[in-house]
Amino acid sequence: MWPFAAAQLRVFFCLLYPANIISLWWAVGSPLVMDPNSICRKAKRLAGRQAELCQTQPEIVSEVAKGARLGIRECQHQFRFRKWNCTTHKKYFSKILQQDIRETAFVSAVTSAGVLYTVSQACSMGELLQCGCERTLNRVPLPRSPTPGTEATAWEWGGCGDDVEFGYAKSKQFMDAERKQGQNDIKSLINLHNNEAGRLIIKNYMRTVCKCHGLSGSCAVKTCWKKMPHFREVGDRLLDRFNGAFKVMGGNDGKTLIPVGHNIKQPDKQDLIYSAESPDFCLPNRRTGSPGTRGRVCNGTALDVSGCDLLCCGRGHREETVSFQENCQCRFHWCCVVQCRQCAVRKELSICM
Ligand SMILES: *[C@@H]1O[C@H](CO)[C@@H](O)[C@H](O)[C@H]1NC(C)=O
Ligand SMILES: *[C@@H]1O[C@H](CO)[C@@H](O)[C@H](O)[C@H]1NC(C)=O
Repeated sequence: MWPFAAAQLRVFFCLLYPANIISLWWAVGSPLVMDPNSICRKAKRLAGRQAELCQTQPEIVSEVAKGARLGIRECQHQFRFRKWNCTTHKKYFSKILQQDIRETAFVSAVTSAGVLYTVSQACSMGELLQCGCERTLNRVPLPRSPTPGTEATAWEWGGCGDDVEFGYAKSKQFMDAERKQGQNDIKSLINLHNNEAGRLIIKNYMRTVCKCHGLSGSCAVKTCWKKMPHFREVGDRLLDRFNGAFKVMGGNDGKTLIPVGHNIKQPDKQDLIYSAESPDFCLPNRRTGSPGTRGRVCNGTALDVSGCDLLCCGRGHREETVSFQENCQCRFHWCCVVQCRQCAVRKELSICM
């Protein structure tokens, strides 16, 4: 049984050929271009070894694609004020993915995390047959040891926890390319490490959510379950790892990675790693995947990366007044209409030269 319309079906077929989504992006240019016609033409040329993945789990493939897009949207949020803003413009994005720079590391991690996230969430929402809420029935209730003078609160696992193990396994299956031999070995080691880092930034930061039951709001009995962190938090943590990313190089055996430079500390499993320095992203350069910062909106008063000095790379900026229409003076009329006027709004923007 195939529960999908023909157009969707073709998108799925496009996605199923390569062992990993990222390698499809290399072939296609952008994960956001989900236009079946253009993707499929190109994807057809790729080998069909993983074809059965999609035939047997089409609904997972759909979640995988959603997860990759969630990751990219988060990337664009985190980098919105930076020289490289995670643009998926096809002239530049595929070049970023082909390198081994910090930005590549962030994209790998955030998309693997996105895939884990959407798959696990689909499980909790009951949208997939293969999985559901985390099974916690085997866990015994844990009564709190009563402190003198206070009441003991009974506490048990229940509710609908996120089955992060299932999402983890699917993210691994779809995102981790098979190890290539030869000169690409280091690149794929780095890629696998960063994919895993992204997944662990969810798996290791599960939060416990509880609900009270009891007479008149008393918390005599509590039910608790595990939820994934909000995806924004995942992005924030990955940005921290991006800022503290470790440079590595390949060991002689071609199977290990060695930290480069003065870092005494070895990267841990949640750290992002890279092997090549990023370009400065100031000027357009198709070879390095840099669109340049000309035309970007900067902040005239900020002293950080979003400030005009840094973002415009010292080329200066111009002020521009933009006007647009906005809803204003909204009134609520009984019942139930909200009427607004359209007001012209003018805003001063600083634009990089
Ligand atoms: C990123 O910067 C480019 C210009 O370099 C701009 O066209 C684009 O709208 C920006 N934002 C995103 C999300 O790509
Ligand atoms: C510009 O930067 C200042 C100082 O960091 C900040 O207070 C302000 O909100 C920023 N403006 C915009 C439009 O982001």
